[in-house]
Order: sequence, then C-alpha cells, then structure tokens
Amino acid sequence: MSIIIDEGKRTFTLETRSTAYQMKVDEHGTLLHTWYGKKLSDDDLSYAVLRKDRGLSGNPHDVGLYDRTYSLDLLPQEIACYGAGDYRISTLRVQYENGASALSLTYDSYEILKEKYDIPDLPASYSYDRNDKTLVVRLKDVEADILVELYYGVFEEKDVITRTMRICNLSDQAIKLLNAGSMTLDFTGGDFDILTFYGKWAGERQVQRTKLQHGVFSIGSVRGASSPHYNPSCILCSEDTNEDRGEAYGLAFVYSGEFLLACEKDGIDQTRLSLGIHPDNFSWELLKDESFMSPEVILTYTENGFSGISHTFHDFIRDNIVRGAWQHTRRPVLINNWEGTYFYFNGEKLIRFAEEARDLGIELFVLDDGWFGNRNDDNAGLGDWVPNEKKLGMTMEELGLCIKSTGVSFGIWFEPEMVNEDSDLFREHPQWAVSIPDRKPNLSRNQLVLDVSRRDVQDYLIDHIEAVLAAGDISYLKWDFNRSLCDKFTRALPRERQGEMAHMFVMGTYRILEHLIHDFPNLLIEGCSSGGGRFDCGMLYYTPQIWTSDNTDPIERLSIQYGTSFIYPVSTMGAHVSASPNHQTGRETPFKTRTVIAMSGAFGYELDPEKLSSEEKAMIRKDAELYKEIADTLLYEDYYRLLPPTHPEAAAWEQVTKDGRRAIVSAVWHHVRANMAPVYIKLRGLKGFAHYRITFTEGHSPESLSRLTDTQQKIFKGEIHLKGDTLMNVGLFLPEPVREFDSMMFMVERI
Ligand code: GLA
Repeated sequence: MSIIIDEGKRTFTLETRSTAYQMKVDEHGTLLHTWYGKKLSDDDLSYAVLRKDRGLSGNPHDVGLYDRTYSLDLLPQEIACYGAGDYRISTLRVQYENGASALSLTYDSYEILKEKYDIPDLPASYSYDRNDKTLVVRLKDVEADILVELYYGVFEEKDVITRTMRICNLSDQAIKLLNAGSMTLDFTGGDFDILTFYGKWAGERQVQRTKLQHGVFSIGSVRGASSPHYNPSCILCSEDTNEDRGEAYGLAFVYSGEFLLACEKDGIDQTRLSLGIHPDNFSWELLKDESFMSPEVILTYTENGFSGISHTFHDFIRDNIVRGAWQHTRRPVLINNWEGTYFYFNGEKLIRFAEEARDLGIELFVLDDGWFGNRNDDNAGLGDWVPNEKKLGMTMEELGLCIKSTGVSFGIWFEPEMVNEDSDLFREHPQWAVSIPDRKPNLSRNQLVLDVSRRDVQDYLIDHIEAVLAAGDISYLKWDFNRSLCDKFTRALPRERQGEMAHMFVMGTYRILEHLIHDFPNLLIEGCSSGGGRFDCGMLYYTPQIWTSDNTDPIERLSIQYGTSFIYPVSTMGAHVSASPNHQTGRETPFKTRTVIAMSGAFGYELDPEKLSSEEKAMIRKDAELYKEIADTLLYEDYYRLLPPTHPEAAAWEQVTKDGRRAIVSAVWHHVRANMAPVYIKLRGLKGFAHYRITFTEGHSPESLSRLTDTQQKIFKGEIHLKGDTLMNVGLFLPEPVREFDSMMFMVERI
C-alpha cells in the first residue's frame, strides 16, 4: 500500500520503494509535515515536533488564550500561508476584496484517487502503473470559505512523489491569488547544502554547491521562461553527500515559466523550501466557485548520493514525463545547417547538404533559421511563417520532396513565440506583440515577443506551423525561443488581471505544442531557447529532446552536459559535432573528441558537409553507424559521472545497462601536462562477481596505448578480463593523452 491512512492517529503516510513521506493533522487541525526521507515503520512521527513559547511567535486566536507554545511560526507544515502568524517564506498568499491578506488552513477531508492526477492545461507526470495513486488532502480557511486541495502523486516503484495544489474560492467575494506556489517542504532541522544549476547563454547549468545559512537562499526567473540563468530544479543534501553516498533530496519543477525556488533556515535552525510560480508579477483572480491549479513539482529522496538522485530523475523523466512516438525510440542522427550555412543558403545548397548527409549515414536533415518571410539575417521576418520561395528557388512541397528523395527525412526550425517589427505579421497585427500601450518595448535580438497568452495568436501559430509541416512532409521541428519577456502586458485582459499574463503565456505555448503533437503524432520536436535556455520538465512533456546549448565547443560542453545530467537524462540533451575551430570559442579540438562528447546526447552534426575532408567523412560514416548500435545504452540506461570537469586533467562518465551487462566509458582530457599524474577511474554499476572484457576502444591512439605496460595494453585490447569488483574498486587508469583535448571511449561487456 503506497498510501497509509491511520484515522485514529490522523496520519497520512506515503510510501515508495525506499522512501516515506508523512503528515499529520494535529489537535488544532493544522496539517503538520512530520517526515520525508528513508522508509521507516509506520510510527506517528509527530512526537519529534517540539513546542515551546519562543516569544514574538504568535498563537492562533482560539489556542493562544491557553497555550502560548503553539505557533504556526514554528511548526513544520504541509503548506505555508502568508499573513496569519507564520513569518517564514510562504507558498500561498490570498488577497480579499477589502485588500487584506491572511489565510489559515485547517484539515477538512481526504480522498484517494486510484490514478495519478492530471492538471488541466498544464504538463504533469503520468503513469500507466496501477500501483501509482493520488492522495488529495483538503484544507479550509473556514472564515474566508477558501478550499485548498493538496495533491500527492505517489509513484511507488519510481521512488517519486509529485505535488501540486488547487485553490478554490467557495466564498461570495472575488479573491486574488498573489502567490500560488506549488509546495512547501519543511524540515525540523537542517544542516543542508544545496546544489543549484546556474548559467547564462552558451554556459547553461553550471553546478553550484552552497551551504544553507540562516536567511533566505533563492533562485528563480522573472523572464517569462525558466531561463538559462537558473534551472528550475535543485538538490538538497547533507554536508558529506557525494556522487555515491549520502542523503539527498531532488526537486524539479514541471513548468517552463517564471519560478521561485526559495529556502529559508530560520532562527531555530529549521529549514523550509518553497517552489512555485514566481509571485513577483503574478496574480490570479478567482470568482465564486473558480479554482486555480498550480504546476507540478517532482520530489525524490535517496541515500545513494547524487547518482541516486540522477538515476531516479532520469528514469522518471524518460518514463513519466516524455511522451509519444519518440519516448523510448532511438532518435535519428541529424545534421543541422545552422553553423554550416547560417542564413546563406538556397534550395540547391540544401539539397546538396541532404545528399552529402545521406552518404555519411545521417538520417535527418534539419533546415534551421532563414527559410521564411524576409529572413536573411536576424533582424526581420519572425512571425511570417511562409516559405521564402524566392530564396529557396522552390516551394516547400518541392523542397520536402527533394530532401526526402535523397533518403533522409526533413526537419525545420521555428521560433513561434516571437515577431520582428519588420514583418508582415507585425504590420498587420501590431497589437499582437507584447508591449505596454504608449511605451516603447525593450528589444532583444531586435525582436519582440508575440502575445501567446491570446487565443487568436495561438490559433494563428497553429494554422501556420501545421501548414508548413504538411507541405514539406516534415518529421522534426526545432522550437526556438530567443529572448526573455519584459514589458509584460496583454491587450486581451483588463487592468486588474494583468498579473495573469505571464502564466497564460506559458499555457498558450503548451496549448500550441499539444495541438501539434495531437495532429502530427510522429513529429519529433526539439526544444531550444538560444540553446538550453528553457530546459525543464515542462518542455520535456512536449519535446523529448532540447538543444543543450548554443555552445558547441566540446570542452565547454563538458561542464554544460555534466551539470545538465544531475537531473535530466542523456536522451533529452541535443548534442552536435561542429566545425573546428569552434565558432563560439575559436578552440581547435580533434574530431573524435567532438564526437565522443556529442554521442552522450541526442546525437548529430552541425557543420557544412561539403567542407569536410575525406578523412572526416570516413569518421562520420563509422561514427554514425556506431551510434546507431550503441545509442540504446548511451541514452536509456544508467548514467554515472566518474570524473567531474573540475578534475585537474580529465572528465569521464559511464553509461551502464541496468542489468550490468554492458558499460560504455567516455573520457576527455581537458588539460595536457608534462609528466602527468596517473588518472584512475573506478567503474560503476557492474556485477561484482562477473567477468568483464573491454570489447572495443574508440579514439585510442596506438601511441597512447604503447605507453602502457604489456598487461595494461592487454586489458584495453580485451585480452585480459577483470571482475566487476576489480573494475569498480581498483579501477582502470586512463592511457595518457598524446595531444591536447584527446579523448577515448571504450565498451566493457560481461562475458
Ligand atoms: C538560436 C538557436 C540556434 C539557432 C539560431 C537561429 O540561437 O539556439 O541553434 O537555431 O537561434 O537563429
């Protein structure tokens, strides 16, 4: 039983394979949070909640007359409300018609749903497992007549609990939600470190580990999208937690818009974490009987360190977030023309591109920016989703036919939520651009944002995108988003409801995506936002993969893909081999190193095949075939970070099948030094007693191998076998690099 209810003790315990989550209704009706962590017996854990009069922490009116030790300011609770005596960070804030804000929730009832809940108009995890259930706990502010339903999705086998809430206005007055976050998580103590993933354009999801101090630590976005600046996820852990061991809690938001993730350590060392839509620019009006449901949070707990968190998230995102035909299917090896041609192409060039690609074993040709409207640079044309037949020299039907006749499938780029002032769409509908009346809007990449919160704009986009997809018989769509929102205002809503716009914008994007998926069920959509600027579980519900970064420098990609891997599986990370010197950094790297790094992702190329040497072409032919063979292991099994990119010399990682039969190890030297210290890697996920053989090595130069002893060479040639235990404890050391940015990849198989 994954949901255990003890009516006598008034406890609710949620159990997954190895975790438990407990809450309890106390004698005053407050829903206390009493445990989240390791699975325990079914004791009532509220005994550990201390009560004490600590001064300046007030008491609810009916209690305070006789008990000054009972204060909402001190108790661990399931949901933190603003204004009624809890002064810590809050998750829910309501404003009444008279302008006041105070909410005090007490227990009302509960319900168990046999299935995982859905959230109307928003992405949410789903389940086909009949053991996965939902607990709904209803709380009420009796004086204001407001009902709050807390939803808990319990994924027993996956060790995941999801949360969201619905706020219903049962009163006769109109209320305003000023904060409708998704969850509060309280800890009656807490010496925590927090891992967050910060970044920038071309440098997304860098790992930061911070000790939580007294005060509030927060990350978030007010940019209209989740953004590359802070990813909507975090890991809370003990001071001694590392990759392999230690307690850790993982959280990820299933939402692509503005968010706030805040953590407060209070004066008596209790820790509160709150996550939800960013309240800064948010308000939502609720008339009588209307309700609002917040986006979902995914939660997990492990004792197995960061790799434990990553394995849970990777499995969950692959099985319970990503949907559709491409969920578990190997993605096509693609070639994208962006870094190959930028805006300078015509139909003939594209067809030659596709022919070359076919000869190299590539399966999909993606036509990036510049095929529509008057789009010959990044100053004009966005919004005019009509093929530029003059530039292409043909119609979209003809281009689609020519590409397909080469033997590769056809993909195309869109940036639906944007418009240029220099476009027919803007000239016709200036009011569709996000801007404040009588105020010049901020430009970014010389473009404005389309007001996708509006239904008419959504419908325009659906019609135009679908017409192009149908005309070109297109099977892949790259969905880009290249600026942040500001000047937020929509002409479709009255003054008092402007605070709804940013959330409606995100829901508008989701609605368009849902339409496309419905009408083109085999379409593979790759998300993108100037690279990985909107990399979150909300987008992954619609787009099984996301372009990880515009930065295709393989050495820079090491830290980007490393940081991304803490929460997101390799199958979701678009990764391409590009030209050298690299267009973003000017760095020169070996072709094989670019390949090794891109193979730990949804693999492809982003260069002009006509400029390749015959040696490089031969490598692509071999690598494309290799990838097709090993992609299942690379993308859909367990991923281990072996050496972080912060290691002084090399980064290494491993993908291993869940049955421990086969592992693929990749290593890249980011520094070459004279008289190098040996670098050891200890493999993970193998069966200790089983024998393993190295079955192939890629990119391993004979010169580098010759520096090893005979025995070591025989191990790498697969002539000497080692046990799993040996490989995981003694490990292997990496043959020295023979040049800067050298790399290798090898496979270990059980015999
Ligand atoms: C963004 C994307 C790139 C490319 C360009 C086209 O920067 O991240 O991959 O599609 O737009 O303008």
